[in-house]
Amino acid sequence: MNVSVIGTGYVGLVTGTCLAEIGHQVVCMDDNPAKIEVLLQGRMPIYEPYLDQLVARNIRNGRLRFTTDAAEAAREAAVIFICVNTPPRPDGEADLTYVELATRRIAEHATRDTIITEKSTVPVQTGQWIEKTLAIYKKRPGITFDVASNPEFTREGMAVEDFLHPDRIVVGVSSPRAEAALRELYAPIVEGRFPCPIHPECRVDRAVPFLVTDIASAELIKHASNSFLAMKISFANAVADVCEAAGADILQVVKGVGLDKRIGRAFLNAGIGFGGSCFPKDLRAFVKIAEKSGYDFTLLKEVGRLNVARRELVVEKLKRALWILTGKKIGLLGLAFKPNTDDIREAPALAIARRLIEEGAFVQGYDPQAAAKAKEAVPDLAICSDPYAVAEQAEAVVLCTEWPEFAALDFGRLKATMVRPLILDGRNALDREKLTALGFEYIGIGRGQGGTRERA
Ligand code: UDX
Ligand code: UDX
Repeated sequence: MNVSVIGTGYVGLVTGTCLAEIGHQVVCMDDNPAKIEVLLQGRMPIYEPYLDQLVARNIRNGRLRFTTDAAEAAREAAVIFICVNTPPRPDGEADLTYVELATRRIAEHATRDTIITEKSTVPVQTGQWIEKTLAIYKKRPGITFDVASNPEFTREGMAVEDFLHPDRIVVGVSSPRAEAALRELYAPIVEGRFPCPIHPECRVDRAVPFLVTDIASAELIKHASNSFLAMKISFANAVADVCEAAGADILQVVKGVGLDKRIGRAFLNAGIGFGGSCFPKDLRAFVKIAEKSGYDFTLLKEVGRLNVARRELVVEKLKRALWILTGKKIGLLGLAFKPNTDDIREAPALAIARRLIEEGAFVQGYDPQAAAKAKEAVPDLAICSDPYAVAEQAEAVVLCTEWPEFAALDFGRLKATMVRPLILDGRNALDREKLTALGFEYIGIGRGQGGTRERA
């Protein structure tokens, strides 16, 4: 099928590339000429595992093209995905200016019947606004627009795998035509007949659930899913604080709790909290959506409050251990909001860096992919070129992002250059017993007396 993607960011680039990979003819459009130029030169504007290989392959085989021309993207596509960003306004509500702009451009330039599909995370009822906008700005009376909602559930760092092997595909439609088009589009993934391009040995042994709903329900599924996952994390963080006070070990507790199939172990990792472009923003947006419908979602307000408090917890723990922070060097391992990405949007590490700098500390950090973006966001943060350098003359090292390579560091070497061998493991990702045996003072999150290091 001919597919276009408007907005070639983290979501749009993954969507367009993976749809080309499963056999469609895709045009990815973006207004940022620098981004498109980088892609046309065969380089990547973001770091996302495996994506570079898929982009290169599909440019070579002619299925994937990039452009800054909205008219070119809108003209011939049977399905158009809107993947522009929906940033939060100061009150938490999503700013839909770019969604409206993309819709108007489609209305103006489309030359054939087209399914316009929202993939950006948008508040419930956005589909109705898109329908109205299309009707107002449509240039060619003879063509038909159908609107659909197809929320994305891909995690950064795992986006290619999540797109090609999803738990489910949700499409919200108001016409059989839109449903038929999206069924055809996703058939190779749904029927599991598409071999995994990343792990050739990996087989999808089941059909992927393809859930068809009305548009408003699909829009709500996205916000409800992300808010529930955020709630699980804040719940685990609250239990971690109780563990700490009561001398229990959060890792053993969540292992026991997670074995209940009704609960599950995933997203119960306590630590310095969730960040990224989705959870914090979607949580605030969902509270706002509920408020507009007359419901005060106090539960989710508390989830957000607990999460923000995680950053202050790190500062408090450091103060408890170091007394005065002014003038002391503190090293941060990991700056991205999670491992395997260069994304620093709402990264807890950067919020912590800012607070420590405010307290007068000298903060030095390392990240395998996000260092340049982190430096731009927090200019007073000193960037180290390797993980060992964050420990030099430091009074404490804080693990903020659990990149797998950090667990394999030579901690003896790390310790040798520290003023005081203190590790604050903000993700409970390191081996406490090993570090203690090496002579480190180890501080985890919610680690009482227990000994296991079980993680999901
Ligand atoms: C996406 C979704 O859009 C957002 O709603 C969701 O909550 C998170 O994921 P993401 O892909 O991460 O956003 O955003 P970003 O990387 O900022 O990409 C958006 C792209 O759209 C940018 O490349 C931007 O240049 C482009 N854009 C935006 C346009 O081309 N035109 C516009 O008018 C607006
Ligand atoms: C999320 C959703 O998982 C995905 O389905 C949706 O499409 C986009 O938003 P993403 O933000 O990329 O994906 O990453 P995710 O793996 O969900 O992690 C979000 C944040 O939660 C990270 O900061 C991570 O460190 C934190 N987290 C996650 C925890 O603190 N504990 C956990 O147990 C899991």
